[in-house]
Amino acid sequence: MTARVLDGKAVARQIFAEVSQAVAVRVSAGGSRPKLATVLVGDDPASVQYIELKQKNARQVGIESEDHRLPANTTTEAVVNLVGGLNADESVSAILVQQPAPPQIDMTRVVLALDPVKDVDGFHPVNAGLVALGFPGGVEPCTPAGIIELLDRAGIRIEGANAVVVGRSNLVGKPTALLLLKRNATVTVCHSRTKDLATHTRNADILVSAAGKSNLITSDMVKAGASVVDVSTNWLDGRQVGDLGPGVDEVAGWLTPNPGGVGPMTRAMLIKNTFEAEVRRRP
Ligand code: GUN
Repeated sequence: MTARVLDGKAVARQIFAEVSQAVAVRVSAGGSRPKLATVLVGDDPASVQYIELKQKNARQVGIESEDHRLPANTTTEAVVNLVGGLNADESVSAILVQQPAPPQIDMTRVVLALDPVKDVDGFHPVNAGLVALGFPGGVEPCTPAGIIELLDRAGIRIEGANAVVVGRSNLVGKPTALLLLKRNATVTVCHSRTKDLATHTRNADILVSAAGKSNLITSDMVKAGASVVDVSTNWLDGRQVGDLGPGVDEVAGWLTPNPGGVGPMTRAMLIKNTFEAEVRRRP
């Protein structure tokens, strides 16, 4: 078998077109134009590249943007103060603080400082709690929401599927497990202390790997025909790779390329969440 491609780039393009249309309709009816404020601390090259892509995507769909850059030695207080100012700024719909931040930044304090209505990542406990409980109004984090959207638009059935998530980060693993559960999958969460990872992954109809470890998922660990989502961004000899070893494409039924799978979907959902943040703020 050669897996069919879960083409994140193509689906992201569709979502950008949909949001672009929604922004145009809103503004032409006299509604406010959304604005995304991004905050980047330090100059990690990958993070700089991600922020520039996010800024570009916002502009392309008619969303305004502000690009806040702080030096690598910035204090937590300075980031919290900036976030406070953006919360109070009536022109800003949505705030994103790029992660990872340098080690002296206490991200818990930064996330708690966000106005939950402007928390476009869905990282604030109010949003995480609403999503975990399945209550309406919570912001779904961009990467997990992008994974669900990618599966849906390929027509992959989530309800009743055995879904295995490898990784339990607050950024990806945990919220992805919750969103799959909300869609009535039978969800298993594996992590670095899981005994015999392969016994779990071999049972997966949907396998989401967000472990951050290259070659972790070998082809013998994948069920024939499974839908495999490779979330991680690992760097191997200067090249971006995910968690999958060689030959997984021969076993899987559906597979995300990496790069070009989940990354573009994360940015598409960020843009969608920015639009929705403005609609929530000013219906
Ligand atoms: N770093 C990698 N992915 C993300 C994301 O979705 N949001 C933020 N804020 N930082 C990230």
